[in-house]
Amino acid sequence: MMNLILLGPPGAGKGTQAKLLLDSTGVPQISTGDMLRAAVAAGTELGRQAKEIMATGKLVPDEVVIGLVEERLNQKDCASGFMLDGFPRTVPQAERLELVLERLGRAIDHVLLLEVEDEELVARITGRRTCGVCGAIWHTVFMPPPEGDGCSCGAKDLQQRADDNEVTVRQRLGAYHEQTAPLIGFYGTRGLVRKVRGTGKKPEEVFEAAKQALGLGR
Ligand code: AP5
Repeated sequence: MMNLILLGPPGAGKGTQAKLLLDSTGVPQISTGDMLRAAVAAGTELGRQAKEIMATGKLVPDEVVIGLVEERLNQKDCASGFMLDGFPRTVPQAERLELVLERLGRAIDHVLLLEVEDEELVARITGRRTCGVCGAIWHTVFMPPPEGDGCSCGAKDLQQRADDNEVTVRQRLGAYHEQTAPLIGFYGTRGLVRKVRGTGKKPEEVFEAAKQALGLGR
């Protein structure tokens, strides 16, 4: 059982590490960004509202994402743990999460904080490509896909996110520093923050450091 929050700025590697952790622990990844993008793709009312906000790099209203996460945490596969990726992102979201978990008789075990400098984040995000079929995350320079324009799963459907341009990335970084970084103090006072440097190392090396920080051994 492991109830984990992945915290860090856009492009820090939260999604990349979540996939490695999922492979090694089986604990499901709950990404509010992925859930919102699915709603946008499905053209739901929620997706219609979220689309414009996400395109500008601002945060979707707290009530919207809290509702999504609460519903997801009640699903069966979360019974033996969960990995929250991109949530909470504001102090009110973190406070509501505490109430939800208390009702479920659960608590957060660790907050894994991935630290990367802003300029590297811009380079990472503008070069990111994601497989539209299996969801694998690549980078044109740092993690080039093995098939050039195709994924290791064989699909030729590498996509660039609508919010992965330099202007929006800088807005997202601003939102992180103003609204999300205060969570480091929020969880710090609860003794839950495990810091890992997310730069200067390959994803697999960051993963080794993360496992140690989380007490998962080698
Ligand atoms: P979301 O989808 O959560 O995006 P994000 O937080 O901005 O994070 P990213 O997905 O961009 O980055 P990541 O840390 O997962 O990095 P990755 O592993 O892909 O949110 C998008 C939007 O949705 C928000 O702006 C907001 O509008 C809305 N939203 C979502 N949640 C919300 C919430 N709770 N409240 C309100 N609004 C919300 O890696 C990035 C790149 O770097 C990849 O190309 C990867 O290959 C490469 N890389 C990874 N590790 C390394 C390494 N060690 N070395 C070199 N390159 C690496």
